[in-house]
Amino acid sequence: MNHPQPHADVPGVSLLLGAGGGIGTALRQRLEERGETVIALGRHTEPALDYGDEASVAACAHHLAERLESSGQVLTRLIVATGFLHGRTPSGHLAEPERSWKNLEPEALAHSFLVNAIGPALVIKHLLPLLPRQGRCTAAFLSARVGSVGDNRLGGWYAYRAAKAALNQLVHTAAIELARRNRESVCVVLHPGTVDTGLSQPFAKTGLAVRSPDIAAAEILAVVDGLQPAQSGGFWDQHGKAVPW
Ligand SMILES: NC(=O)c1ccc[n+]([C@@H]2O[C@H](COP(=O)([O-])OP(=O)(O)OC[C@H]3O[C@@H](n4cnc5c(N)ncnc54)[C@H](OP(=O)(O)O)[C@@H]3O)[C@@H](O)[C@H]2O)c1
Repeated sequence: MNHPQPHADVPGVSLLLGAGGGIGTALRQRLEERGETVIALGRHTEPALDYGDEASVAACAHHLAERLESSGQVLTRLIVATGFLHGRTPSGHLAEPERSWKNLEPEALAHSFLVNAIGPALVIKHLLPLLPRQGRCTAAFLSARVGSVGDNRLGGWYAYRAAKAALNQLVHTAAIELARRNRESVCVVLHPGTVDTGLSQPFAKTGLAVRSPDIAAAEILAVVDGLQPAQSGGFWDQHGKAVPW
């Protein structure tokens, strides 16, 4: 398929993955309020995005490519707002953040790696090639500060920390490959801060700066749109400050 290149007169399209999540929903609303074209996909959309099924990621890529082809628009922003910290795995196992190595369980580890790292790797494989070969474009993957090895002083949360660290390495590596195709590209991992969503609710402590998804979405978009190609491959927080690896 022949993908159009950016043109000043043609507005770019944003692709938002994880559209049904707390931050994903707020990002979608913000972008729509700005009058931008957003294609928002998640497990309950058509086509559906389910990281347990690579064919669904490929189908999302096909859907996007067709939309771009028929509209003549260009994908200029990709935001991946998927993630998993706690809850039921597809087989019904209850996964919770581990307090100790005693709590390490293969099924919880595998599901965390599936949603936080392997799924985004499939997004890299199937969707990054749809970014234009010239002109500014950004791909932002939501990670978490707790995925930072250098910043880990509290321990615990083994599966989530390790899967986010894996995500960080995958995205950093993809940023290098993407820059060879398009020198104006930006591909990063972002820490959104602590945000009031289903993911954080059981762990929100008084005193922690918990923000509404709407505020978080505004901050994420400001960082995404402010980052320059020289900052591609980095790990940035909600204020645009570098997070240690
Ligand atoms: N909330 C916080 O305080 C916080 C802090 C640091 C980092 N983060 C990160 O920010 C991102 C968004 O978090 P959130 O707070 O919005 O969490 P959330 O409300 O739990 O949303 C999680 C998202 O992940 C998607 N997802 C889960 N399993 C999936 C699967 N098997 N296949 C495809 N998609 C799947 C869900 O998809 P659907 O669209 O289908 O529902 C949902 O959109 C995550 O990467 C999270 O780690 C959040």
